[in-house]
Amino acid sequence: MARKKFVCGNWKMHRTGAEARALVREVRAAAEPFCDRVDVAIAPPFTALGVAAEELAGSRVGLGAQNLHWESQGAFTGEISAPMLVDAGCRYVLCGHSERRQFFGDTDEWVQRKTRAALAAGLHPIVCVGETLPERESGRTLEVVGRQVRAALSGLTPQQVGSLTVAYEPVWAIGTGKTASSAQAQEVHAALRAILRELAPSAADAVRILYGGSVKPDNAAELMSQPDVDGALVGGASLKAADFTGIIQGANR
Ligand code: 13P
Repeated sequence: MARKKFVCGNWKMHRTGAEARALVREVRAAAEPFCDRVDVAIAPPFTALGVAAEELAGSRVGLGAQNLHWESQGAFTGEISAPMLVDAGCRYVLCGHSERRQFFGDTDEWVQRKTRAALAAGLHPIVCVGETLPERESGRTLEVVGRQVRAALSGLTPQQVGSLTVAYEPVWAIGTGKTASSAQAQEVHAALRAILRELAPSAADAVRILYGGSVKPDNAAELMSQPDVDGALVGGASLKAADFTGIIQGANR
């Protein structure tokens, strides 16, 4: 099944409001010509969502957030809810990025709650999974990502599964300059697709599975040429409009 490629930039904890405005302008101008053939989104930090939404008004480049809380409001100091993200102009939200899991205690159960809250608010969750280096080296990659994706998606209707995106990001490839080979990526993406078929047979073939972890202009096309690699979740290279555009061009090949 032909799935439209999807390239999303995760800015992580980078860029002030003024810096974000300049970068969004550049990205918008460079990315828009590709939006017929590639879906493009950026996920700036919360404090830059407002300026990013202004700069993306009327654009086909989508806006996303990097995290959310599963309650819609309440006494949760420092947290941001799904309805707040919708209000800020977001269409997408990352759920369970490995940095959240590693440094901020996100568990499989929290990722499930966040995914459900995002869907309930009409956001498209990008559910992130990935193994650490010791997990890969001990042959547990498929077990780990399988557990993560089953937990995040358990209890969802096929329609809900059909409106989310999965991102496979091997932890050892994030910010390290080491990329999974296209064969390594395809192996995991195919395994994830098989699990999606089990969980939601009618929706699985439409779900996009992105690869993330040191994606750059020079490796993007090769990774995304794999049958189950439907796009990229890009960290460092999404902070430079030229590199991000190079990756979008790779998706367009
Ligand atoms: P890098 O592209 O910087 O390796 O980051 C990947 C990532 O974590 C995207 O969410």
